[in-house]
Amino acid sequence: MSLAAAPSALKSFDEIPVIDWEAMEGVSPYDFFRDLRAKTPLVKVPMGMGAMTLSLRARNAEQIVGEQTRQLETETKMMQGIFDGPIFDFTAQVLLFANGDVHRRRRQPIARTFAFKLMEAMRPVTVATASELINERLGKGGIDFLGEIAAQIPARIIADVLGIPRSDLPVFMKWIGDTSESIGIIDLEHRVQIEKSLTEFNAYVDGLLADRRANPQQDFLSDYVAATAASGELTEGEIRAQVVGLILAGSDTTRNSLCMTLYELLRHPDQWKAFCADPDGLKKKVVEEGLRYQPVVSGIPRVAMQDMEIEGYLIPAGAIIAVSILSALRDPDVYSQPDEFDINRTDQQRWILAFGAGAHRCAGEALARVELEETLATIARLAPGTKLVGEPPQLNPGAIRTVTQMKVAFA
Ligand code: HEM
Repeated sequence: MSLAAAPSALKSFDEIPVIDWEAMEGVSPYDFFRDLRAKTPLVKVPMGMGAMTLSLRARNAEQIVGEQTRQLETETKMMQGIFDGPIFDFTAQVLLFANGDVHRRRRQPIARTFAFKLMEAMRPVTVATASELINERLGKGGIDFLGEIAAQIPARIIADVLGIPRSDLPVFMKWIGDTSESIGIIDLEHRVQIEKSLTEFNAYVDGLLADRRANPQQDFLSDYVAATAASGELTEGEIRAQVVGLILAGSDTTRNSLCMTLYELLRHPDQWKAFCADPDGLKKKVVEEGLRYQPVVSGIPRVAMQDMEIEGYLIPAGAIIAVSILSALRDPDVYSQPDEFDINRTDQQRWILAFGAGAHRCAGEALARVELEETLATIARLAPGTKLVGEPPQLNPGAIRTVTQMKVAFA
């Protein structure tokens, strides 16, 4: 018997309060959700022809990413009128937008080879890369932190993981910049440029894969092609899409998180001073609180595969229901004084929702942490007199929230 037919006191889906995205304009999303959360655990936001239900409470996350739901697949692109071409193919082939067995087949070789040990080995590489970038700019006045540091770190580190020569970095970074929208909502005016760059990017990654098949080395890509060959379960397109997916999923996210965590530290001089006095001792706490306080992925959307009961409401099969990461990470049931940035808080959770939950939990969490911890610790060590220059950075709304701009002076 479906929940809809069950004799129960469930409130109907139509009773969930509806909010308008426009009501959020000019308001901090955290203030907006704090006020809403006090009134209702669920809200509906209009989306295209339908609506998405947002859960504002952390306690519903496991259920929402669990067996009653599935990940969105190519429908987000089809809703935008994209039915074929490189963006569509990437979406259809990448693990992030797959379910069940298909997801398992794509994730397994990555999980096996993009491993914790390899990521830990990137710590000294990150320290060296960050030191070089910061030393070149020390005492030189205001610099574009977003473009010259925060965007460089994830691109350079993943380039090192993939064994990409330094001389290819400019074109590699251009492809990342041009194609990162492929994992989210596309600005259709950019479609032609995105597809042109994605085609070139795909060909480049095909070249790297062919090289490692012909000349195996002691590196991630060689292990990855060996793992996919051993399983024999992926098409060429899928093998390539997971590599492009790793690059894209790790770029804007880490870049924006670096900016916002540094910004919060600079805004809280006592905490910045404490961090500068003990960068290695505090780097993990700093990053954890930055991820909580300014999450860059705003939610985890899923499709209900059956009628579900959440917070006493009936969520019908087929509805889109999302964990609002923005709201859940300020949930007062979980975090005391949730609107305070406090690197010393003692109520951090074992698995922070900033990296998602369930089967799709971030495959690059270990690398993201290494990059964030070591870059911020290097700034604290080399440039404790760092100051924000000009306007504070803002996060644009969106599935992945992007930083508008950020300038600092290293000293
Ligand atoms: C601060 C940095 C990062 C944040 C906040 C973040 C957040 C997330 C979240 C929330 C998801 C789950 C999305 C969902 O369930 O719908 C995810 C998935 C994923 N992330 Fe990250 N991520 C970060 C960095 C990285 C890095 C550095 C990489 C790789 C180099 C990476 C690779 C991936 C991949 C491949 C997936 C898909 C996993 C799957 O579908 O099984 N991420 N990330």
